[in-house]
Amino acid sequence: MNTPAKKIIITGGAGFIGSHVVRRFVTNYPDYQIINLDKLTYAGNLANLKDIEHLPNYRFVKGDIVDIAFINSLFEQEKPDAVIHLAAESHVDRSITNPLEFVMTNVVGTVNLLNAAKNLWKGNYENKRFYHVSTDEVYGTLGETDMFREDTAYDPHSPYSASKAGSDHFVRAYHDTYGLNTVISNCSNNYGSYHFPEKLIPLAIHNITQNKPVPVYGKGENVRDWLWVEDHARAIDVIFHKAAAGTTYNIGGHNEWKNIDLIHLLCNILDRKLGREQGESAKLITYVTDRAGHDLRYAIDATKLKNELGWEPSITFEEGLEKTVEWYLANQKWLDDVTSGHYQDYYKEQYADR
Ligand code: NAD
Ligand code: DAU
Repeated sequence: MNTPAKKIIITGGAGFIGSHVVRRFVTNYPDYQIINLDKLTYAGNLANLKDIEHLPNYRFVKGDIVDIAFINSLFEQEKPDAVIHLAAESHVDRSITNPLEFVMTNVVGTVNLLNAAKNLWKGNYENKRFYHVSTDEVYGTLGETDMFREDTAYDPHSPYSASKAGSDHFVRAYHDTYGLNTVISNCSNNYGSYHFPEKLIPLAIHNITQNKPVPVYGKGENVRDWLWVEDHARAIDVIFHKAAAGTTYNIGGHNEWKNIDLIHLLCNILDRKLGREQGESAKLITYVTDRAGHDLRYAIDATKLKNELGWEPSITFEEGLEKTVEWYLANQKWLDDVTSGHYQDYYKEQYADR
């Protein structure tokens, strides 16, 4: 896009990554109007945005992307110039127990947004953009070597990754069929502040601090490629503004860790920070039944993003993990509210009239 979009709907802005994207756009682009559209499922938490919710260029709208009538009327009313779409069911384990919810939100919800954007912009896509935030899990799993590139064939294994692959295909189809100005990025595992403690890193930090067992699936040999969430938000900013229509970029930090090694690293950091003897937290590691269809290894080749748009991660994993642990220790109330379910009261208190 050459001219900045003025009004952007960011979906899923109350979630983990979405809250970082909303914060970045609201603070870096005061001329933009940012509408955070979120259903506030169990994963949506408006406390994630407490520091920016008062800013004049930010607005929250509660709504479900699966609700076609609501989405159409919101687009007609707001007439956004762009959509940055992050709303999704995001947890692989939940997709194994309830796949249909993932089809509804991730596939049907995405198609509803694509249709609403197509109908609003009516073929005039100048300075319009539909940005779909996706995952490296669409590519399936790797052996010991090789990496996921933008031209790697899709091979999803979980209901979650199958639903994200489906949504990616629809986004491309809307570009190829109707000329919609779309962009897709496929990112590796994120970590950082406001991460819901059902996911490995925040769950482990929480359980270690509470002296509870830390569940490691299978033998802990699976490899994930971790990226600091604020670097992901910066990559989305760069791609949103600079990518050509119809393109795809992989986002990752060349930072592969076996789960068990990562858990040991977290245990060591927390032993130090909590004044425990080295090795004490590691006693909490508990091997449990493996995840069904558990992908062995993810690794992103982000060369295209670096060469074409100049993006690179800004911090090392050691720095990022240290910051992340410090954030959780300093924000015990956020974690307690999330684990107790009290975080959902925040919406009722702050937005009682909506
Ligand atoms: P999250 O689960 O923390 O947040 C998802 C947000 O979407 C929540 O605020 C939730 O309330 C909202 N939402 C869910 N269903 C909705 C619906 N029907 N209508 C409106 N809002 C709805 O997820 P996340 O980890 O922040 O992931 C955000 C996006 O990034 C997802 O599309 C995910 O596939 C993708 N992604 C995540 C990672 C990761 O490591 N977490 C990596 C790559 C890509
Ligand atoms: O790769 C990007 C994806 O990363 C995103 O698209 C997903 O939305 C996001 O949830 C994440 O998926 P993973 O399944 O990789 O993340 P999770 O934190 O659930 O698990 C990370 C690894 O740790 C995985 O190999 C499973 C393992 N694990 C997970 C949990 C929750 C455990 O060993 N124990 C656990 O308790």
